[in-house]
Amino acid sequence: MAILNFLRSTVLSKIVMATTGVLLLLFIIGHLVGNLQIYLGPEPLNTYAQFLKSIGEILWVVRIVLFVSLILHIITSLYLSSINNAAKPVKYQVVNYAKAKINSRSMLVTGIMIFAFVTYHLLHFTFGITNPEDYAHHELTVKKAYVLPGNVSEEQLKSMPKDCFVEQNILTERHDVYKMVVLGFRNPFISLAYIVAVVLLGFHLSHAIKSCFHTLGVTGPKFTPWMERCSTIFSIIITLLYISIPISVLLGLVGGAV
Ligand code: HEM
Repeated sequence: MAILNFLRSTVLSKIVMATTGVLLLLFIIGHLVGNLQIYLGPEPLNTYAQFLKSIGEILWVVRIVLFVSLILHIITSLYLSSINNAAKPVKYQVVNYAKAKINSRSMLVTGIMIFAFVTYHLLHFTFGITNPEDYAHHELTVKKAYVLPGNVSEEQLKSMPKDCFVEQNILTERHDVYKMVVLGFRNPFISLAYIVAVVLLGFHLSHAIKSCFHTLGVTGPKFTPWMERCSTIFSIIITLLYISIPISVLLGLVGGAV
């Protein structure tokens, strides 16, 4: 297959890993910003979720790009790790080789676990399959609409004075994402699963960002230690912000009214 021939070059594979990794990272940051709206209450979170659904085609384009990135990221990582495993250690490189091998193995293990988590997460919050009782909630919202009594043509509409329009309240139903998340995280086992998965994601991210800079050759005696520290701090912040959500629900700091 053409794609496999393309990925067979190690340099290209690393570029694919870095590019798809950056796209996935952007999603992780964006998703976090969206999720943090839970701290503002049900209205902002549900409005945000409703907005995402309303952009229809754009959302599907983003989903497809992310899905393709994820698949390419996984295939390429398996390929690179098979090359790494096949490499023979040279005597004087034993220490570095061993370290690289542990790193690439832990990346593979955390990567597989994150993939398993995302699969579970989609079944849980996106498709409502694992906990349908949490997913099933909807809330009614009132939307204002301006309508005209009777039928008018498009031409007449343009010249209509504003006071011809009658304000009406229209009841609409939307998915209660806030309630679903709160009910989901009230289960300590579910919260624990999310916390463990996000901590693994943090480790994965921290190493991935560092190796991305190495791959792109952006290194230097002063820059590399600084970049590695920033990458660790960044990953810790992302992890803490994500896990703060299940922890806040468990402690009753969020979702008290649900
Ligand atoms: C505390 C942590 C998290 C919370 C509260 C959370 C919340 C949610 C919710 C509510 C949805 C469904 C949105 C909807 O259909 O209206 C969702 C979808 C999703 N989440 Fe998360 N999430 C969390 C962590 C993560 C992490 C760490 C990842 C990735 C590693 C992730 C990846 C996804 C993906 C891929 C979707 C599907 C997006 C789509 O439908 O287009 N989530 N999440």
